[in-house]
Amino acid sequence: MEYTFINVNPAIDEHIALIQLNRPKELNALNLELMGEIREALKILDDDDSVRAIIITGNERAFAAGADIKQMSGKSAIDMLQIDQFSTWDQIKKTKKPLIAAVSGFALGGGCELTMHCDMIIASETAQFGQPEIKIGVMPGAGGTQRLTKAIGKARAMEMVLTGKFITAEEALQAGLINKVVPVELYLEEAIKLARSVAQLSPVAVALAKEAVLASFNTTLDQGLHFERKNFYLCFASEDQTEGMEAFVEKRQPAFKGK
Ligand code: CAA
Repeated sequence: MEYTFINVNPAIDEHIALIQLNRPKELNALNLELMGEIREALKILDDDDSVRAIIITGNERAFAAGADIKQMSGKSAIDMLQIDQFSTWDQIKKTKKPLIAAVSGFALGGGCELTMHCDMIIASETAQFGQPEIKIGVMPGAGGTQRLTKAIGKARAMEMVLTGKFITAEEALQAGLINKVVPVELYLEEAIKLARSVAQLSPVAVALAKEAVLASFNTTLDQGLHFERKNFYLCFASEDQTEGMEAFVEKRQPAFKGK
């Protein structure tokens, strides 16, 4: 598959794929074409048995400075409705494999929302997160008001969404939005390290566990516990469960196959 706005490496490391946003002059502004390419790439990588974790990154200056304002400018509500950009985001949300965002520089608007579609976020100390849509007369539309609030709580989310204020990587870490902050020269390496530690585990159990954690956003506690239990039992249908437990008993490293 040929891409114009992203680079895709299906094997940056063993079982690890990398998607790099590649519109550097526009600070990786997320036009419809770029988002369509991310959706296609994720679908292909999600279906590829050799891939066990996927990293999404940008460049040192910008992960992504948001949806492409120039593309949206002048559009009517009906244009936006018919373009239906968020169906692409809904597809991205369905990715079963673990997604890790490796963020440096700006992660704003749709860029911040894209990091929140990922399961874990590694940031360089230069990263800045924000939902500045309010400054251009709109508001977040790809989940920012919901996911940010769930991640960092009402007070901090309100401040970011209502003022457009950016937060630093360190503030994002303290607030619980991201997993780790590292020096700028290490953010991708650190994301690969994190991906490696997931990729060596059972892909079946990892996918079921991811699904259960995400279910917690849409369920009551009892429904979530019920969902978790079903996925827990389902793990016992996998060869990886047998292998994992046998390897523990035999005091050796397990060799997981994703079956
Ligand atoms: N859309 C389109 N182009 C963008 C862009 C965006 N979101 N962000 C930056 N660019 C372009 C700039 O227009 C500029 O292009 P030109 O050289 O052709 O003028 C280029 O990228 C470099 O940007 P700046 O010159 O502005 O760089 P800076 O360092 O001075 O400022 C910035 C950086 C603070 C990130 C500033 O570019 C900025 O505020 N960008 C917009 C951020 C924003 O509002 N994002 C939210 C978008 S709406 C959204 O995302 C909706 C949603 O929920 C899905």
